[in-house]
Amino acid sequence: MRLPWNGWTAWMAAGGLLLLAASGATEAGSAPAHPPSNGVPWPEGWQEWATVAVSHRTDNGTLRVILGNDAAMAAIREGRTNPWPDGAALAKVVWKAAPSADWPAAEVPEKLVHAEFMVKDSSRWAETGGWGWARWVGEEAAPYDEGPAACVACHEPVRDRDLVFTRPAPFPR
Ligand code: HEC
Repeated sequence: MRLPWNGWTAWMAAGGLLLLAASGATEAGSAPAHPPSNGVPWPEGWQEWATVAVSHRTDNGTLRVILGNDAAMAAIREGRTNPWPDGAALAKVVWKAAPSADWPAAEVPEKLVHAEFMVKDSSRWAETGGWGWARWVGEEAAPYDEGPAACVACHEPVRDRDLVFTRPAPFPR
């Protein structure tokens, strides 16, 4: 009997090989997909973090989602956010806002501007308020490497809230 060998089978086989290659790479503990920013490594898996809040910047027409890792979400639930505990990390992902093609009165995220992070480690980042400050720019996630000084300076107005602007948005429970 002749085995069916068509485009689809070839495609599946190629996909399987790719998956094998990808899992092999992870097991071998290979370098993360993107180089560090300001000495902070790319936080693996951040795309799955939970939502802390959203914001809409009217002066430059951008939409933002603020995300937290498990440690940050636990800190919010338990009211331990001043100071935030070591291990907590917050992300802010920024997109240009554009009217929805289906409902123009709604603004939706369009082009990705950047994803940026505050990663709490009070001893490692003692010089910069206990936070590591990182940013990866654009869809290609190019690391910003100009140092954390500008980040910290702009977050100064909320130093008494451990340098964090975002107040968690209310969710029904
Ligand atoms: C021009 C001022 C300014 C600069 C510069 C700035 N930020 Fe922010 N950042 C803000 C403001 C205001 C917010 C909260 C409002 C918003 O944008 O959603 C914020 C929010 C954040 C948040 C979400 C947590 C929070 O504090 O609310 C992260 C993470 C963050 N910034 C990281 C950075 C990093 C990393 C840099 C430097 C690479 C940086 N920021 C530079 C003004 C700034």
